[in-house]
Amino acid sequence: MRLHVVDHPLVAHKLTTLRDQRTDSATFRRLADELVTLLAYEATRDVRTEQVDIVTPVSTTTGVKLTHPRPLVVPILRAGLGMLEGMVRLLPTAEVGFLGMIRDEETLMASTYATRMPEDLSGRQVYVLDPMLATGGTLVTALKELMKRGADDVTAVVLLAAPEGIQVMERELAGTPVTVVSAALDERLNEQGYIVPGLGDAGDRMYGTVG
Ligand code: URA
Repeated sequence: MRLHVVDHPLVAHKLTTLRDQRTDSATFRRLADELVTLLAYEATRDVRTEQVDIVTPVSTTTGVKLTHPRPLVVPILRAGLGMLEGMVRLLPTAEVGFLGMIRDEETLMASTYATRMPEDLSGRQVYVLDPMLATGGTLVTALKELMKRGADDVTAVVLLAAPEGIQVMERELAGTPVTVVSAALDERLNEQGYIVPGLGDAGDRMYGTVG
């Protein structure tokens, strides 16, 4: 597994406003969207392309286009949904699958409640969207499922990661074709499993609290 923490002043600037508890939901959603587009630029650095010949108004030349099968983007519901538009803005031809996962707030274990994805992901590059890599449980479960279906290149795009979650991912996904792209690596998890300093509950900050 590879970890790439994006070091860019625009990313740091937007993340600072996202973290601020005074930022309202509408602004939070807009900033998360913009931040994901910046992260997507880094996350797609190795997206597969093939050579094509084209004719410009001046001459012939050789360029590239994205290959088939098309990349698959998988937001993890609920909070990953707030990252979808920012990602497909850079990858408009990607297909979109969905994984609904929920974390038990006492055991911190992740379980899957909805899956909408192709059965066969052989040869596919997959981009998984989940804002918070906290304990790593949700992402490990999701990424294993994608690789079980044949995905051979999986990138998790997250807004924040905790060292504890990265350790779990490195242990559970050693030797797999997984890359994590994050806007920051924070200090630690607290007793409730929240990232410190973090930004709070990403789903609640985006969509409000649902009981
Ligand atoms: N999920 C969140 O939304 N926030 C955290 O800090 C950890 C997990």
